[in-house]
Amino acid sequence: MPKIPSDIQKWNKRWSTDIKYCRPSSGGAVGIVYVWTQNLGWQSANGSYANYEPKDAAFVIKPIQGSAAPTKFAEGILSKIGGAQSPNSVPIKRSTIHAQSLVNMLFRFSNSETDATTKARWQAVFHHYQHADALLIQETQKGIQELGDFYKADEYAKQNGGLEKILTNETLMTNLGKLFAADALIGKGDRLSNMNTGNIAFDAQGQVLAIDSTTILTNFQTIVEDTTNLATGLMSNDTNNWVSAHIHKSDYNANPTIGQQRAFQPGVTSAPVLPPGAGISEIFDVKTWWTQKFRRELEAKLKQHCPTAASPDENTWFQAELWFTNGVNMGIQQIDMKLSGLNWLMIKNKYKSFVSKYGGDPNLDWMNFKVRRRYVKLRNKGFSDDQALTAIKQYVSQRMPGF
Ligand SMILES: Nc1ncnc2c1ncn2[C@@H]1O[C@H](COP(=O)(O)OP(=O)(O)O)[C@@H](O)[C@H]1O
Ligand SMILES: [Mg+2]
Repeated sequence: MPKIPSDIQKWNKRWSTDIKYCRPSSGGAVGIVYVWTQNLGWQSANGSYANYEPKDAAFVIKPIQGSAAPTKFAEGILSKIGGAQSPNSVPIKRSTIHAQSLVNMLFRFSNSETDATTKARWQAVFHHYQHADALLIQETQKGIQELGDFYKADEYAKQNGGLEKILTNETLMTNLGKLFAADALIGKGDRLSNMNTGNIAFDAQGQVLAIDSTTILTNFQTIVEDTTNLATGLMSNDTNNWVSAHIHKSDYNANPTIGQQRAFQPGVTSAPVLPPGAGISEIFDVKTWWTQKFRRELEAKLKQHCPTAASPDENTWFQAELWFTNGVNMGIQQIDMKLSGLNWLMIKNKYKSFVSKYGGDPNLDWMNFKVRRRYVKLRNKGFSDDQALTAIKQYVSQRMPGF
């Protein structure tokens, strides 16, 4: 993995002199921009830039709203607990002159792009860079494959071995299980818990890549104060409900940003879409998720993209589920090992330093994180789901008096 230049947060003139080419990704709602710092032949004879391949990009740039702390904290947990490869995001605050030089550079390339499809994508995404709160510089993940590529057009799927290839890969299935456990700890639902196959990324060795990572650890007070009710799942302003619907169970939404709250208009169908969260109890009931979300989603997508292709056989699904479940259990063990004693204090210090450096965030709540970790500890001690849920509700109500 090429390292990000260590002085990149201070690049100013270099944004106008050192970049040979850049273009936005086609994937993702907003996606990222690939950046090349070497000359790869510039424009070829037919006017295309196809020789600038993602694998040769020096780094990528991703715009974010709000604080960079949720991404930095998520990347740390995903690599520590989930064994995922981190893109090691380096945030550049949008308000700096350095970020302005970067955005000027993006503007220059978007303006001079000659490929019609790329130009249209620039037009759709450029304002996200212009109006971001921070721009993340990330290491290019090499040889990136996405789960979504394996059920698409008949030919592509066939060439790649289709879903079968994924399900029979022991390393990959085990690693995805670990990632599932780590994602649950940070509430990240926009990947496995609530399937988004564009965020399930891995390389040819079955190593999983922590792209598009952030925490969805909702803060209770912020939900109560927000009148838009965009952060779904809460039935009443009671901490018991918060614990049930935003910590224990999946299918809740992140807290909206101030911008999203401002854009919200009741009754308007194009209300801001918030990323889904993941509850911690899901990792102790893998079977339900596997059957109702993972397998169901993949079979539905396969049918949609390749109507004539058959689903892999029962044995394949069965074996894959065993490997995956094994990975989840390894992740749960990691949580107990790496989030105890001195290690726990180290994580807490990391959290504090990210918050003081990049600012706090309504979806990076320490109490939420602590309670998830506590639930895992209790389950490992032999508590049933009900007992552990009751215990964490009690814990929260004692520590958050006044709600
Ligand atoms: N660090 C990275 N290295 C290489 N490719 C990346 C990286 N991050 C994202 N991508 C590619 O760009 C796509 C969109 O990025 P993502 O962060 O998921 O955007 P969005 O938040 O809009 O979903 C991904 O699906 C992946 O193909
Ligand atoms: Mg994505």
